[in-house]
Parts: sequence; C-alpha cells; structure tokens
Amino acid sequence: MSIDLDSFTMTEKEGLYKAVFSRRDVRSHFIDKKIPDDVLVKILNAAHHAPSVGFSQPWDFILIKNKTTKLKVKDSFTQEREKSISLLDNDSDRQDKYVRLKLEGILESDINICVTYDPERFGPFILGRTSIPETGEYSVCCAIQNLWLAARAEGIGVGWVSILSIEDLRKILAIPNRVKPIAYLCLGYVNKFEVRPDLERAGWLKRTILSKVIHFEDWNNTELNNWNNTNMMIQKLDDSSNK
Ligand SMILES: Cc1cc2nc3c(=O)[nH]c(=O)nc-3n(C[C@H](O)[C@H](O)[C@H](O)COP(=O)(O)O)c2cc1C
Repeated sequence: MSIDLDSFTMTEKEGLYKAVFSRRDVRSHFIDKKIPDDVLVKILNAAHHAPSVGFSQPWDFILIKNKTTKLKVKDSFTQEREKSISLLDNDSDRQDKYVRLKLEGILESDINICVTYDPERFGPFILGRTSIPETGEYSVCCAIQNLWLAARAEGIGVGWVSILSIEDLRKILAIPNRVKPIAYLCLGYVNKFEVRPDLERAGWLKRTILSKVIHFEDWNNTELNNWNNTNMMIQKLDDSSNK
C-alpha cells in the first residue's frame, strides 16, 4: 500500500474520525462471509504498527477459525458468565439486565484472535518499562485499538470478549506460562454497525460527558482562567451531544 505519510488531506482526516466514531464493539449482526486473507493481513499489520514501550512489540496474535477451539472458548465464556451473574445476586435489576445482554460472538464470527503479551521479548531491560511494568500490557492494548480501527475501516466488526478464564485460554491455545492473554477478539463482516454502544442502548450505562473527565493543570481544577476557551468548547460539545 502506498500512502503519503507527510500530511492528511481533509478527506483522510474525516476517514480517521469516521473510523473512531463509528467503531463499535460487535457481538451481533455477524454475517456468513469470510474475511479475505489480504484484508486480514492488512488489519494485523495495522496492529503490528502500534506504539510499544521501548519498541518492545510484545504482542502475538493467535488466529483461530477451528470450530472445536471456538467451542472450548465458548464453554469458558459460559462458565465465567455464570460467575458474573452470581456476583449480582443482591441486585436483581442489574442481574436481569445482565442476563439479557449478548456479550460475545465467538461462534458467529468468522475469525477469533487471541492477542497476548510477552514480557520477556527483547527483555529483561525494556527502555521505558522500568518504572511502570504495566506499560508492556498497555502496548498490547494499543495494538488492539489499531486492529479495531483498521477492521472498522474494512467494514469488519470486532468484539472483545473478556468474560473468560485466562487459565482456560492458556490451556486451549497452548500459550506458554510467561505469556499473558490480553484480549480475545471476534472478527467478522456484519450487516450493520450500531450507532451507539450496545450497553448504552440496553440502558446499562451512558456515555459520560467530556467535561466530566477533563482536569486543568491538576486534578482539582475543572475550570481555570487560561483554559477558558477550551473549556467553553468542551461545554458546547457536551450541550450538543446531549440534544
Ligand atoms: C478491555 C475490554 C474488555 C471488554 N470485554 C467485553 C466483553 O467481555 N463482552 C462484551 O460484550 N464487550 C466487551 N467489551 C466491549 C465494551 O463493552 C464496549 O467497548 C463498550 O460498551 C463501549 O461500546 P463500543 O465499543 O461499541 O463503543 C470490552 C471492551 C474492552 C475495552
């Protein structure tokens, strides 16, 4: 692929924001259409170009289409889901809602990908990881986000399933002990991308307004004179998204 790497045209910028805002976590709407190998490779390559602490590139991608493997993972999901449901025994409203949610598309999606973290790659000294060891795992999450956005641009839905046992994943996928599964992703073409997150549509939680998560200069300031203009624009955005 040849891309002008210098600057973004207006159309390219719009394309990027379109991917960001229309990306969804997809568990339903998968259709029976295979992901072509060249598209899959493009998406994986996008993931592989994510930032990583000390350029450690600590990710691996296990590509799964075998039905038997998927069924084993689905079993793990079913067991873990039961455990989550029991955690809500004292909150029957949320428990009822939870039970009705569709939280995975393991069998319906064309390809499953387990993304893992290898703390020993290029180690033990990883530049930048010495003070905050979690930066290794953060790097894997950056790769996952790249994958998610590239897939969206290709019209492919991705669903992240975390209601799984890490130990089950290790066993099912023969993952070595030092390697940690970070994400189990379900990828496939879909007949639609929802405009709003499923959890929002189901009344589980709402998107927080932007101003609620912005602080100026330190944690204690939610407004500050020399940030007035920024603050006003954020408020305006919040007002318009509330309409
Ligand atoms: C780390 C992580 C774990 C997640 N685990 C699950 C999961 O197990 N099941 C599920 O249905 N969605 C899962 N999601 C998707 C979130 O529910 C979803 O991103 C959120 O509701 C916002 O929706 P959106 O991604 O469509 O914007 C996960 C997302 C992340 C980032």
